This record gives sequence, structure tokens and C-alpha cells, in this order.
Amino acid sequence: MRINKYISTAGFASRRKADELVINGAVKVNGVTVKQPGIDVKDGDVVEVNGRKIDKAERLVYIMLNKPVGYVTTAKDEKDRRIVSDLVMDVPERIFPVGRLDYNTSGLLIMTNDGDLAYKMMHPKHKMYKTYRATVQGIISPERVNKLRKGVDIGGFVTAPAKVNVIKQTERFAIVEISIYEGKNRQVRKMFASVGNKVQELERVAIGEIYLARLMTGHYRKLAPKEIEYLKGY
Ligand code: URA
Repeated sequence: MRINKYISTAGFASRRKADELVINGAVKVNGVTVKQPGIDVKDGDVVEVNGRKIDKAERLVYIMLNKPVGYVTTAKDEKDRRIVSDLVMDVPERIFPVGRLDYNTSGLLIMTNDGDLAYKMMHPKHKMYKTYRATVQGIISPERVNKLRKGVDIGGFVTAPAKVNVIKQTERFAIVEISIYEGKNRQVRKMFASVGNKVQELERVAIGEIYLARLMTGHYRKLAPKEIEYLKGY
């Protein structure tokens, strides 16, 4: 198996990142630094990345978690807050979340050890829309909706066109569904703030055509083969 595939299927990095690691001299095979991303590794070879041994390529697993508010999506947290991997303790493979959800955001989080698929799902060039249901303060006027649809400045970055639907408007708050394919830090919160509506609650309900549906908060399930095929073929 080629070294880049070995590293990515072990869940360590995307294949492209694996190439970079090799070129930058971060990878050793049997104690010797290798610099050609195209070289093959055999069963029994010891592969290290930045001095850490990479286990033999693992089975690829894909799960969806309904992330509760109050968890971080990083591997560790300097403030010692709870981490999403605590919720998937009985998955033996070393899986990681595809993209981030804020501490205060709930909903659909896909976790996998397939670095290539994760890279594809996150890169804006593939335009995989992520759909959020936001509860926002105040009235969201048609002008504001139009601004969000066209793209807004969130501080030095103008967002790409978004899909926006107002599900409900009361005197004090609105429920809005918004779909975006970029993943800037706190993007949805910043987009609503830029038109004057503060986000009170935020839940991700879909990634492309993969829906959270009735999965309970804090629970997870494996993706169905059809869902995996859909993501790979995107
Ligand atoms: N946008 C946000 O503002 N927060 C998230 O967690 C995801 C998207």
C-alpha cells in the first residue's frame, strides 16, 4: 500500500496532508525518514509520523452523532470541557469529527477515520451544503433574508450565497433554516449578527442529503451503506 494511503486510512490525515507530511520529512518507515509520497509500505513495516507510531491501516468507520450543547469537537480541551469522543467510547477505531461545531451548537456531527472523505466534505470547492436550524432574536425581515442569501461580510470575509428559509416568525424570535457550504469559524452566528439578529440556539440538521432526523441528543449510529456511498460519490 502506498504510504499516503496507509497514513490516511489509519485516520491520521487526508491523503493530500499525508503527502505533505512525507515531503516535509515527518514520516519514517522502519526508522528511516522517507521523502517520496509514492513509496509502498508492506505488512510489518513500522510507520511513524512526527515520532508517533501509526497503527496498521484500520477498518474505515463512519458514524453520525447528535452532539449536545456543552461538548467541544476538539480532541482535548484546555478548559477541561467535555469532548465529543466521550460520547462514542465504544467505537474502538480512532475517529475524529468532520469539521467543527461550537460548544453551544448541537446536532449532526459525522465522525470517521476516513481522512480523504473528511477533507472532501469540508472543502468549499465541493459545495456540500450544511443545513442549520437557527433560533434568532427579533424580526428577520425579507431584506435581511435577501442579504443572507446573497452573501454578507462577516469581518473581512464575504460569505458565498446561502439558502435561507424562515420557518416561523413570532413577535420576539424567528426560526430560520440556513444552508451554507463554507466552514468559517462561527460562520452562521456571524452571518445572522451581521444583519442584526443574534442567534439564541443553533442546531445542524443536515449535511448534504444526510439528515439528523430522529437521532436523540447524545446518541450516535453508524451511517448506512447508502449514506456512505452518497458522501463518497458527492
Ligand atoms: N456556524 C456556527 O456559527 N457555529 C457552528 O457550530 C457551526 C456553524
